[in-house]
Amino acid sequence: MADGKFITLEGGEGTGKTTQAQRLADRLRAAGIDAVITREPGGSPFAERLRNVLLDPSVPDHPPLSEALVFYAARADHLDTVIRPALRNGQWVICDRFSDSTRAYQGAAGELDASVIDHLDDLVVGTTQPDLTLIIDLDPKIGMQRADDRRKAAASKPQNQSDRDRFEGRADPFHAALRNGFLDIAKRYPERAAVVDGAVSADLLADTIWSVVKTRLPALETW
Ligand code: TYD
Repeated sequence: MADGKFITLEGGEGTGKTTQAQRLADRLRAAGIDAVITREPGGSPFAERLRNVLLDPSVPDHPPLSEALVFYAARADHLDTVIRPALRNGQWVICDRFSDSTRAYQGAAGELDASVIDHLDDLVVGTTQPDLTLIIDLDPKIGMQRADDRRKAAASKPQNQSDRDRFEGRADPFHAALRNGFLDIAKRYPERAAVVDGAVSADLLADTIWSVVKTRLPALETW
């Protein structure tokens, strides 16, 4: 059986990745493809425990290298226990964030040298690189507003700054650097990356993503 395809969804805060991951999985399944959704940080029991530490704003700030190592420790487990077995099984894996988030958050918008991340990525991800990376591009002001609205609705209580996780709580220049970081990643990896406009409705974005997937990853005669 042929290996499945590995699709990652990337972007800043409130870009709609999680909704789009679900929409894409639904369309793939309707086309007869066995698709699984997972996420980072997390996606496996061990990595989900590390996620709690990584995102908890009450955990003291720590050096960027130690933070990146924990992201990659989580990623190593996620790859070994979830992503690689699913791909070998012929399933398509849709992952909500992956290595490009480390490149953008800890690299471009953080303080970590890109070469350090490249080394870690060679070691941990190796040849299991995404077949397609959809980068959802959005003005961070709109994204942060959406993320705040979403949290407010989920918690049914007035929003306040302390409800934001470690990264959401950062200042505007961080989020602007993130956006540029993701756009630079698209230029660096044109063979696997596609930028899509996140400022449109969820329905239109789902249609756009579907046409990119069909063009970039031809798989079925009928689609
Ligand atoms: P999450 O709640 O999944 O955010 P979102 O809904 O925006 O996807 O939280 C993940 C956070 O972790 C997000 O702020 C991005 C950050 N992150 C990194 O900083 N580095 C990484 O390698 C990954 C995977 C995520």
